[in-house]
Amino acid sequence: MIVIKLGGSVLSDRLHPSTFPDLRQTMKNEKIVIVHGGGKDVTNIATKLGKEQRFIVSPQGVRSRYTDKETIEIYTMVMSGKINKMIVGMLIRYGIKAIGISGIDGVTIKADRKKKLVIINEKGRKMIIEGGYTGKIRGIDPSLIDLLVKEGYVPVISPIALSDDFEFLNIDGDRAAAYIAGGLRADKILFMTDVKGLIINSEVISNMTLARAKELLPSIGFGMEKKLLACTEALEMGVKESIIGSGLIENPISACLSHDQCTVITQR
Ligand SMILES: Nc1ncnc2c1ncn2[C@@H]1O[C@H](COP(=O)(O)OP(=O)(O)OP(=O)(O)O)[C@@H](O)[C@H]1O
Ligand SMILES: [Mg+2]
Repeated sequence: MIVIKLGGSVLSDRLHPSTFPDLRQTMKNEKIVIVHGGGKDVTNIATKLGKEQRFIVSPQGVRSRYTDKETIEIYTMVMSGKINKMIVGMLIRYGIKAIGISGIDGVTIKADRKKKLVIINEKGRKMIIEGGYTGKIRGIDPSLIDLLVKEGYVPVISPIALSDDFEFLNIDGDRAAAYIAGGLRADKILFMTDVKGLIINSEVISNMTLARAKELLPSIGFGMEKKLLACTEALEMGVKESIIGSGLIENPISACLSHDQCTVITQR
């Protein structure tokens, strides 16, 4: 089983046209589960609705959307409606059986609402603010995904979790993918984004260990910092390989699976 996280950075017509045929080819040997992102789309539509989005940075250097009540509603509509259905539609168009769900459906992803958030303000000082509707993932229930996969469907999952109080929570797509890969005991997790992997000193790092990835975490820029964190989380949950590669190149999935033009992170 392979979990593929499709980055919002490569959605809306940016994925290489060979991606879906390549996926169909890959499905001859592997079961596939897709998790998607789409933060920029959420921000654009929120702006059109007159709801400016605010971003916060944690003391660990992780950037995230500040999600108040109105924002979680917009987030749910865009992620689970527009983006999720666009991906499902594309898969079906290429002859792949697909079903879109969110982490809410079948209570697939449970998370705890963060009541307070520690952030670093513009002046570089620590501040505590109201948590809003972002969640810390607690775990996943793989039963619905397993059922769909067993019936030959590719589940397409949007990163929204359910809290104990039945609130919808914004969770990060990369980290949701990591937990899903861990919970499904997937062999590999593949992050398809708009760069060919982790870049350091203008070069794509072709492979590294979990220990090295953890060392590098604090120094990585926004966008890649969460992806690298998710790679380490997946490995710690038992996934054997975390791969970051570009969805803009030809046959991007098989390229990643053959370790061509990407970053591969392994236990050792
Ligand atoms: N060291 C780095 N190496 C590679 N990319 C980096 C690095 N530091 C920051 N980045 C940025 O990370 C971006 C990828 O993350 P980003 O969150 O934008 O895309 P995504 O995760 O594919 O999309 P989404 O978050 O919508 O799902 C790259 O386009 C790049 O600009
Ligand atoms: Mg991202």
